[in-house]
Amino acid sequence: MKTDRIIIFDTTLRDGEQCPGASMNLREKLEVARQLARLQVDVIEAGFPITSEGDFNAVQTIAREIKGPRIAGLARCVPKDIDRAAEAVKPAGKRARIHVFLATSEIHLKYKLRKAQSEILRLAVEGVKRAKSYVDDVEFSPEDASRTDPEFLVAVCRAVVAAGATTVNIPDTVGWAIPQEFGELIRHLYVSVPEFQSGKAVISVHCHNDLGLAVANSLAAVKAGARQIECTVNGIGERAGNASLEEIVMAVRTRPDFFSGLECNINTREIVKSSRLVSRMTGFLVQRNKAIVGDNAFAHSSGIHQDGILKKRETYEIMDPREVGWGETELPLTKHSGRAAVSARLRHLGFKLSDNDLNVVFTKFKEIGDKKKFVYDDDLTALVEGVITQVPETWSLEYLSVTSGSGTIPTATVKLRKSVNGNQEIVQDASIGDGPVEAALRAIDRLTKTNGRLMEYSLRAVSQGKDALGEVTAKVDFGDGNLVTGKGASTDVIEASARAYLNAVNRHLISKRSVCRRTKGI
Ligand code: KIV
Ligand code: ZN
Repeated sequence: MKTDRIIIFDTTLRDGEQCPGASMNLREKLEVARQLARLQVDVIEAGFPITSEGDFNAVQTIAREIKGPRIAGLARCVPKDIDRAAEAVKPAGKRARIHVFLATSEIHLKYKLRKAQSEILRLAVEGVKRAKSYVDDVEFSPEDASRTDPEFLVAVCRAVVAAGATTVNIPDTVGWAIPQEFGELIRHLYVSVPEFQSGKAVISVHCHNDLGLAVANSLAAVKAGARQIECTVNGIGERAGNASLEEIVMAVRTRPDFFSGLECNINTREIVKSSRLVSRMTGFLVQRNKAIVGDNAFAHSSGIHQDGILKKRETYEIMDPREVGWGETELPLTKHSGRAAVSARLRHLGFKLSDNDLNVVFTKFKEIGDKKKFVYDDDLTALVEGVITQVPETWSLEYLSVTSGSGTIPTATVKLRKSVNGNQEIVQDASIGDGPVEAALRAIDRLTKTNGRLMEYSLRAVSQGKDALGEVTAKVDFGDGNLVTGKGASTDVIEASARAYLNAVNRHLISKRSVCRRTKGI
């Protein structure tokens, strides 16, 4: 890889997915990975294989199916992690990367690891050598690097590069750094390690956003010699998140005068699509005023601005919205559109569906076409994503009837189908609630014998018009402290709420079954 190019290392599926309530199933991860490949990221960090069977499978499947980017698996600096990561990324062949990390800061050494610096150096070298015995492409991260003694950090960088690391990633793990200071640290490493200057090894940065400085710190690092940036779509990630991919890429693209000679290989026209997909798959909404991908990012409301833009766009707009994928909607489909038209539009939107899934989507398309005049690309995307996020349904909605209004006690009658090992059973119950949504969810709780606490609930119109599809995202705690995200869409918002809640119940039951299997050692 040429080092005057900035390598975009996407960790949406690892650090992004690590934040509470963002977890995705295999199908969802695969869809995000496909979109990241269309976006042309250089590296996809697909997961942390030792942490669970699910993470291992996701990394292995992505390594097998996704062509183009390198595929990385994360590992602590211990043999069993490295071996597991190696097995997971193996199907990617020459594009496989193992990313090993070990803390180096005084506070981590003293309180977390209880090890001396000499011991850390030894372990780091051993870990890198072990990873190198599996793959050529090895990345090492001294965790909490920004709070590590700079001279020790230089020693660690030299040692791991000598042991075979081709990328050394400098994480600002707790979001502590300030741009000027972080830039100086990267400069110091750059001039102190000959392999960074010769291009034999690449300096990477991985910044967290606790002080809202993740993007600024990453850009300061690039100016100082870093050539890989680790980031996530929409900036999702642990706590306040990671550096946001779209902001970094567009800063470099929009200001070539400042970042002279530097470029990323990202297909920027895929940015908005990637943002929406990740938002839907994780259930993390994008704030309206978010740079580049928020709904208001290019909306000018002041008359002076509008007037200026009409005269010359560049007076108030520093980027062309089309360059990041805004405003590329096609004519809407209607109920008269045939299977071929729907299939062609889906391909245009970037979805590759099996015949089976296409049939399911087409049936749902017809149902929606009967209810609303136009089916927009966003409606279609929501339908497909509904199919992707579907999990085996222990419980499915057969019937829902709600009465509510002023002066009435909201009441819901719910009929569910229970499917277990090929046996089917229909059950029904009714409940009252403070509102129709609560009434419906309470009835579902009684039937499924779960008692989820609704921790977050959001409803958004998928497209325009009074007849728009409503999409509900529900984050539910079923008593084990984990947040399970459920999604449901319908032109009826109470039905969308019931479907989202049931989706969460089904996901919870699946994760409970796999925990049971794990504890029984199966
Ligand atoms: O924030 C961090 O330090 C990390 C490392 C594993 C790179 O995510
Ligand atoms: Zn991180």
